[in-house]
Amino acid sequence: MFTVAVIGASGLLGRAVMRELETRPGWRVVPTAYRRTDARTVALDIRDAEAVASFVGRVRPDAIVIAAAERRPDICERDPAAARALNVEAVRTVASAARACGAWVLSISTDYVFDGSAPPYRIDDEPAPLNAYGRSKLEGERALTETTGFGCVLRLPLLFGPIVDWSESAVTSLVPAIVASQAPDAPPAPMDAWATRYPTYTPDVAYVIRGMLERHAEGEAVCGIAQWSAQEPMTKFEIATRIARALRVPARLVPQAASMETTPRPRDCHLDSSRLDALGIGRRTPFDVAIAEVLDAAPVPVPAQSR
Ligand SMILES: NC(=O)c1ccc[n+]([C@@H]2O[C@H](COP(=O)([O-])OP(=O)(O)OC[C@H]3O[C@@H](n4cnc5c(N)ncnc54)[C@H](OP(=O)(O)O)[C@@H]3O)[C@@H](O)[C@H]2O)c1
Repeated sequence: MFTVAVIGASGLLGRAVMRELETRPGWRVVPTAYRRTDARTVALDIRDAEAVASFVGRVRPDAIVIAAAERRPDICERDPAAARALNVEAVRTVASAARACGAWVLSISTDYVFDGSAPPYRIDDEPAPLNAYGRSKLEGERALTETTGFGCVLRLPLLFGPIVDWSESAVTSLVPAIVASQAPDAPPAPMDAWATRYPTYTPDVAYVIRGMLERHAEGEAVCGIAQWSAQEPMTKFEIATRIARALRVPARLVPQAASMETTPRPRDCHLDSSRLDALGIGRRTPFDVAIAEVLDAAPVPVPAQSR
């Protein structure tokens, strides 16, 4: 039996990973969560080194996927110490427990480790994060690679996928403003047209992660740094335009030429995915298809007057 522990299985990415892995014959998948636990999920705070060692010692995983993090840049900016506790020290703790039991460990990182001034970024390009989130994730990458040689950092760009509420992803968090903008008495909704993003569908990332786990199960683990990205460049204005079209909402959106963010963000961090592409690992669902799936399956009603 090939055992995989998924840390942060209750999150946006973790849920997609669970859906992809749990039907895999011959695999045992053990999900953990922090606040959002259920009967199947092990409650685990990965900042608690004793609890992590005890969990890993009990489960004896062949692989650990770390999808737990503080991923909100504004929150990281306000409390960098709390961000580091989860994004750096907890990664080191899990990596150390993984090494002790011989497990391969996959830790998720971000395109925000780069400054966005010279895309596309290859795996060995020099990182230069612009904000506390990016800095904590870069330190987390180093914590992993310093602690174990039997592990991999997977950098990803902006994610979207099946949600439990609109705010879970920076893609779907645009929906309330898009819908509200159609009201005749509402002001048009300003949308960032400054930064280029590559919105990447979590079920596709989960498929990539499954491919990486399969390589490990076959004795050919991918180690070091890997990157994965969708290939459709879009600003948030373009993302919002496509969401409005999918919702059939006559939205009134205004492109903003300057960055609208208070926390500094990179302009274009296009990640080069060639390492995984060369291994034949991956799948890219077109954005319009993926966003229609997300909107159709959304468990929360579209805010007003559409569909
Ligand atoms: N979202 C994006 O656009 C994006 C882009 C690039 C990279 N990433 C990276 O992708 C990974 C997954 O992000 P996501 O968007 O899925 O995040 P998310 O939806 O915010 O989920 C975070 C997960 O971490 C868990 N968690 C929080 N504190 C914890 C703790 N102390 N101990 C154990 N688990 C804890 C949460 O558990 P509970 O909910 O149960 O508390 C949840 O399962 C992260 O590494 C993130 O940096 C995300």
